[in-house]
Amino acid sequence: MAVGIFDSGLGGLTVLNAAQARLPDVEFLYYGDNAHAPYGVRDAEDIYQLTRAAVHSMWDQGCNLVILACNTASAAALRRMQEGGLPKGKRVLGVFVPLIEALTERQWGDNSPPREVAVQHVALFATPATVASRAFQRELAFRAIGVDVEAQSCGGVVDAIEDGDMILAEALVRSHVDALKRKMPQPQAAILGCTHYPLMQDVFQAALGPEVKVFSQGTLVAESLADYLERHPDMLGSGPGGFVTTGNPARVSDRATQFLRREITFRSA
Ligand code: DGL
Repeated sequence: MAVGIFDSGLGGLTVLNAAQARLPDVEFLYYGDNAHAPYGVRDAEDIYQLTRAAVHSMWDQGCNLVILACNTASAAALRRMQEGGLPKGKRVLGVFVPLIEALTERQWGDNSPPREVAVQHVALFATPATVASRAFQRELAFRAIGVDVEAQSCGGVVDAIEDGDMILAEALVRSHVDALKRKMPQPQAAILGCTHYPLMQDVFQAALGPEVKVFSQGTLVAESLADYLERHPDMLGSGPGGFVTTGNPARVSDRATQFLRREITFRSA
C-alpha cells in the first residue's frame, strides 16, 4: 500500500510527517538519497539521473505513486521524466504546484488562465539549482500575473542541516534573509522552496518579521495528496513502507529521529 516520498536527504521528512498526519491509514516508503545530498549544487543532468534512479527503485519496490518531496529534483527532473513516458500504472508528482496554488488562492487543479492575485511581492528561498531553473517562476506565470518574485539562493543551508549543524544552519538562514531584504525590503510572502527549510521555519519567520506570511510545503502537499488519492485510489501501490537511504542508515536514523522527535529507523536502499 506504500506511496513513495523521495528527497535527496532529510528534507522530505517534513512532507512525510504532514502526509502521515493527514493520511494515517496510508503506508509510505521514504527514500533519502543521503549519499548524494545535497542536490542543490549539482547540475540539472546529474540531478535528473540521480532522481530517475531513485524513482525507478521505488517503483520496483511496489510504489505506484512517487512524490518528489524535493524542489530541486522537481525542478530538474519532473517534467523530463513525465515527458519521457512513465511505466504503465506508475506516476511521479512534484511539490511546486500545491504551493503555488495556495499562494495564488486557487483550488487544486484549477487550470484557468493567469489572473491578478492579492500577493505582489514574493521572496523565494531555495537551493542554487532550483533558483537557476526558474521553475517556480514558470509555474507561477501559468497562474498569476503581476507578481514580483525575488529569489535567494541559499547556499550551505542543506549541507548544515544534513550534518546536524543547526547553529550554522541558523546563521546561514539569517544571512540569506538579510541578502533577500537588501533586494526586496518588504516582501508580503515568503516561499520556503526547499523541503529542508521547514526544519528552520521559526528562524526564517523571525528574520523576516511577523508581517511576512511564510509558505512551506508540508501541509499543502499533504492536502493535495489526499485529494489526489481520493480521485486515484489505484495509486496506493503494493509494496511495504518504511525508510530507506543510500547513506549510512545509523547516522541518517539518528538525524531523522532528532528532526521528527520520534524514533525513525532507516535501512539501506
Ligand atoms: N530538500 C531538497 C529541496 O527541496 C533538496 C536539497 C538539496 O539536496 O540540495 O530542494
